Amino acid sequence: MTTDLRALLLANNVVLGPMAGVTEAPFRAICKRFGCGLTYTEMVSAKALSYNATSRMARILLTLAPEETPCIVQLYGAEPDHMATQARMIAERLGNDVAAIDINMGCPVGKVVGRGEGSALMRTPALARDIVSRVAEASGLPVTVKIRAGWDADSVNAVEFARAMESAGASAIAVHGRTRKQFYTGRADWDVVAAVKAAVAVPVIGSGDVLTAADAKAMLEHTGVDAVMVARGAQGNPWIFREARALIDRGEVLPPPTARERLDMAREHGRALIAYDGERAYKRMRKHVVWYVVGMAGATYFRDRAFKAGSWQELEDLLTEYEEWLRAHPRSRPRPDEASWTL
Ligand SMILES: Cc1cc2nc3c(=O)[nH]c(=O)nc-3n(C[C@H](O)[C@H](O)[C@H](O)COP(=O)(O)O)c2cc1C
Repeated sequence: MTTDLRALLLANNVVLGPMAGVTEAPFRAICKRFGCGLTYTEMVSAKALSYNATSRMARILLTLAPEETPCIVQLYGAEPDHMATQARMIAERLGNDVAAIDINMGCPVGKVVGRGEGSALMRTPALARDIVSRVAEASGLPVTVKIRAGWDADSVNAVEFARAMESAGASAIAVHGRTRKQFYTGRADWDVVAAVKAAVAVPVIGSGDVLTAADAKAMLEHTGVDAVMVARGAQGNPWIFREARALIDRGEVLPPPTARERLDMAREHGRALIAYDGERAYKRMRKHVVWYVVGMAGATYFRDRAFKAGSWQELEDLLTEYEEWLRAHPRSRPRPDEASWTL
């Protein structure tokens, strides 16, 4: 059975973007609960999988939460053989739980592009085409690509490149409107996203600077894309999906989560992550708990201590202490830069 990606995107056009080290399965499950559409795994190296497909890393990266299936599994690499073999392994291992295999053609990290992988593939379109067609053939699954605007401002090629990927067999294209050179700085160019949408017949997912529900609606309207992708806007903020659905579907502006909801979610997220990957996950959880309290009173003091925490228990104790501190320091009105923090 192959999935109808267009139907999945039509059913819910606000998806969670892949973020390495951030969007692990427990967090994706939380985002689903708040109304997110499709989810992507973090990027998984085809080469690493080909050395050891049963390593702890592979197990973690390829674990899908029941709430999120079918999910898009993202592979990165630049060797068609490795990519095709690992795509087949994923199709066999995960079967109908996979909506598509996505090929990462946007990662800007030096180590990755230095091997011709990630966004470097936008400079080798013939190789990128080969990867798409080989992965599609080997896996029998829809193949999607996630690209950037181009390599740098002088070589913005997202439109031609997207057309080439479509003709090689890509079933959908996600485009982040920044160049590789920009990494995550500057503004994403939504006009490039709109141009890609106008150039291909397959569904297009727009990415870049969708940080609020209003941004999600604005990007849909500005670019005409089939779906928008939320990435950094979901950090410490899974509520963004509920807010985006309310705004897009009903024109309704929901109130932001309260401090209690944020602190409770930080605890729930942390416990789920520890259950999923063991105590070692507390290190990865530190940044999440800090994101959950961004904008709240006293958040800077909390952040400094959270980054020093040496166990999940310490983080939980810190959350309790912070909650008590908030209760003892009620403010009738938050400062203009503070989020709602009523306990
Ligand atoms: C910490 C972090 C990790 C990311 N990891 C991936 C990844 O594994 N695969 C990928 O295709 N994009 C990755 N991205 C890019 C995002 O999916 C998204 O396209 C980009 O952040 C732009 O969207 P935003 O402005 O809404 O954050 C990552 C971004 C961040 C901030």
